[in-house]
Amino acid sequence: DDDRDPRTFQTKTLASQKVFQPDIFKGKVLFCTGGGSGICYGMVQQIMRHGANAAIMGRKADRLNGAATQLAKDANNGTRCIATPGDVRKYDDLKAAVQKTIEQFGRIDFVIAGAAGNFLAPLDGVSPNGFKTVQEIDMLGTFHTFKATIDEIKRTHGVYIHISATLHYTAIPWQAAASSAKAGIDALSQSIAVEYGPFGVRSNVIAPGMISGTEGADRLTPKGAEQMVESRIPQQRIGVIDDIANMGVFLFSDAAAYCSGAKFVVDGAAQHFPGPWLPYPDS
Ligand code: HXC
Repeated sequence: DDDRDPRTFQTKTLASQKVFQPDIFKGKVLFCTGGGSGICYGMVQQIMRHGANAAIMGRKADRLNGAATQLAKDANNGTRCIATPGDVRKYDDLKAAVQKTIEQFGRIDFVIAGAAGNFLAPLDGVSPNGFKTVQEIDMLGTFHTFKATIDEIKRTHGVYIHISATLHYTAIPWQAAASSAKAGIDALSQSIAVEYGPFGVRSNVIAPGMISGTEGADRLTPKGAEQMVESRIPQQRIGVIDDIANMGVFLFSDAAAYCSGAKFVVDGAAQHFPGPWLPYPDS
């Protein structure tokens, strides 16, 4: 009963729903920054399908409210989603969002630190404020998310997922600000795992490769170059949001009970094959 697409080798039904029970997260609560769109929206969607309630945080209140309504409708399993608008650069916004989540749902078990800011620019063209802005959204925003949730996560023996990247494993031009912030996020996640492991807390990084339907891919893929990009990825396709969401479901599940302080790269092996030095033989 192989239901995989012969070209992409992707299952046609949602992988996490085939692999995991629909109620594995029943009674759990997810708090997600950046949940209004893109990868984080897709992660919240799948985690709610497995029974969790969710709170999403982002800067654009209108988009966030619409997303929260849509997420609850999609899940269609009695779970709820609330919008907690705010800017991760402001610690008070995080504290208010976390407080609202606990008031509504009584607890927080899972945290996704996903809010990110990024732009393409040569490093000497980035102003001090431009560099600071990316660090404040990505790096400081991730610390704020940790700081506002850690007491609750210690209490519930919860789990952090930090959304990073693979950019900084090597380097690509015009991404220095985001790359250095993501390197810091990897380090912070590891520190959380080490310091709070004894409290039953786990902390991991997901490092997505190129994922279609996201702002990151829109900015980094030259228009019309999708086929060329795909030919350079060993799995021969750009990733989809569900690829990351499936990893999120696994990492929050008890199946990942001994996974902490780790970086989970989901990129179709792209990080190991940066250049098209030789074409693939016909396959
Ligand atoms: C150079 C730029 C710039 C650009 C902004 N700046 N865009 N510098 N090139 N293209 C500078 C501004 O000139 C200003 O500095 C400073 O950055 C702050 O800009 P603002 O527009 O005032 O900031 P703000 O409105 O807060 O917007 C933040 C932002 C923006 C990061 C600049 O792009 C944003 O809101 N992005 C959110 C969504 C997002 O980026 N998502 C993509 C994530 S993708 P001066 O000196 O002029 O005051 C991702 C994946 C990475 O993270 C990995 C991919 C594989």
